[in-house]
Amino acid sequence: MNRKENISEDGNITSGKNISNWTDSVSPIVFKPLTEDLETDIVIIGGGLAGISIAYCLTQEGRKVILVEDGYIGSGETGRTTAHIVTALDNRYYTLENIFGEEDTQLIAESHIAAIDFIENTIKKEKINCEFERLNGYLFLHPSDEKVSLDKELEAASRAGIKVIDTAKVPGLISNEERCICFPEQAQFHPLKYLKGLCAIIEQKGGKIFTETHAAKIDHKGLTTKTGYTIKANHIVVATNSPVNDKYAVHLKQTAFRTYVIGALIKKDSLPKALWWDTGDQKENPTFPPYHYVRVQTYNDQYDLLISGGEDHQTGDENETSHAADKIYSSLEKWTREYFPIEEIKYRWSGQVMEPMDSIAYIGRNPLDRDNVYIVTGDSGNGMTHCTIAGMLITDLITGKENKWKQIYAPSRFTLKTSSHFFKEAMYTLKDFLKTSPDHKDAAELSSVKTGEGKIVNLQQKKYGVFRDKENLLHIVSAKCAHLGCTVAWNKDEQTWDCPCHGSRYTYKGKVINGPANNDLAAYSEMYALETK
Ligand SMILES: Cc1cc2nc3c(=O)[nH]c(=O)nc-3n(C[C@H](O)[C@H](O)[C@H](O)COP(=O)(O)OP(=O)(O)OC[C@H]3O[C@@H](n4cnc5c(N)ncnc54)[C@H](O)[C@@H]3O)c2cc1C
Ligand code: FES
Repeated sequence: MNRKENISEDGNITSGKNISNWTDSVSPIVFKPLTEDLETDIVIIGGGLAGISIAYCLTQEGRKVILVEDGYIGSGETGRTTAHIVTALDNRYYTLENIFGEEDTQLIAESHIAAIDFIENTIKKEKINCEFERLNGYLFLHPSDEKVSLDKELEAASRAGIKVIDTAKVPGLISNEERCICFPEQAQFHPLKYLKGLCAIIEQKGGKIFTETHAAKIDHKGLTTKTGYTIKANHIVVATNSPVNDKYAVHLKQTAFRTYVIGALIKKDSLPKALWWDTGDQKENPTFPPYHYVRVQTYNDQYDLLISGGEDHQTGDENETSHAADKIYSSLEKWTREYFPIEEIKYRWSGQVMEPMDSIAYIGRNPLDRDNVYIVTGDSGNGMTHCTIAGMLITDLITGKENKWKQIYAPSRFTLKTSSHFFKEAMYTLKDFLKTSPDHKDAAELSSVKTGEGKIVNLQQKKYGVFRDKENLLHIVSAKCAHLGCTVAWNKDEQTWDCPCHGSRYTYKGKVINGPANNDLAAYSEMYALETK
């Protein structure tokens, strides 16, 4: 099945040109747009896993909920995920212990165990057919990492209360990879089928969902949509992946990364259903070592799909030669072929993850705001569990129940232990990017923009982002990010304008698709519509 025909011209169904196997295998989850003013108890902005999980939990408590989504349900990062549902977190337990101490690390572990159980129980209770299964996950060493990492992780994970088994050989790999840590009782599912199932229950319980409804103004009283309708509410939950209601507080404490995925055919049943991860390239970036993550998904009668991801880099530096997308997909394929018996590559896509300065998500009351405004962000690559934790935790905050995870996930926290290293790393990457990116050093000539290409161009002493489409039409947008004004960079692979500062992203027409920006880039394309090569 091919769902490409469902993508609107500027990528409305998903946050980029490429589509994932999830988007390709189900119909878009569509509701009517909002066309009237409404009042409710709780309004939720964002129809990804976070928003939908929160809406589900609140409607289970009998609360009146309205959710608005400016694309379709799951058209953000949830439609681009690989949906490993894990307690084997991207950041090692020994790192978490170092940051939070043993006791709080146990609470973190407990929250992720609870999240997997919650997903499993909900699927059973609501009879959601979303290919959920429990399976083993295997963590093995990246060649740049030291053997002692596995020992340290085994000990720290057990201290945190996670089941781990020291295992002599990694099952399923064609290379002779030796020792690994087995994490039993991990899980996987089809994320969009799960969302669809939850949406049906939310509606049955009286919740209302509106898609293609952009919340243009958000405050503690509610929201106003781009088309001018209002929703007044007692509680406002901003679940837009990167909060669009906050300019500074949380965005200075996290960094946006681009991560890449291929979906490749493997002979049916040639691999066990399992999850595999390496410990990450310590040389590339010791703070956030880019690692590989792999799973198997049923595809057709002859083949399964091996979904392999990794090769992360900071958002906005795709133009740097070492991070050109074609090169990245090639190294991802090369790495995958070394370890797994893959055949034809069927899918290539990328997405954005938010890396918080201290490794775990920000879930709770929005800092420097009224007490009735809540946010969820900083997925740290473990969004399946973090979004589910948000469902439970934000529901408790709204309903006034005690929740022992409240302090750990509080968005107002500031972790001194990691701050200097985090800021040094973030500034270094940003400076390095600004220095080396040709688009930023010298703006290009308008005539040099080839078909299918985007470039930053100087016009009348101002910088513009220019994309030339197949019809030779030039789409010209302001190059100044609508968040805090950094210059956006062209993402050739997804055909979007991406901001290197805090991860805002826009379609080639300038429509905002990722926060923190909540406004489009000013577009001037009509002015230059007749420009030729
Ligand atoms: C390639 C990739 C692989 C990943 N793999 C894993 C994995 O294996 N396991 C794991 O746990 N996590 C993984 N993650 C992370 C996980 O997918 C995400 O953290 C999670 O899906 C985020 O969900 P969300 O609801 O926060 O955001 P989203 O799904 O992005 O939802 C936010 C929604 O808000 C909407 N929105 C934004 N602004 C507005 C507005 N103003 N008005 C209305 N709507 C608005 C957007 O359209 C969007 O749909 C991966 C991520 C990527 C990109
Ligand atoms: S995302 Fe902050 S300036 Fe662009």
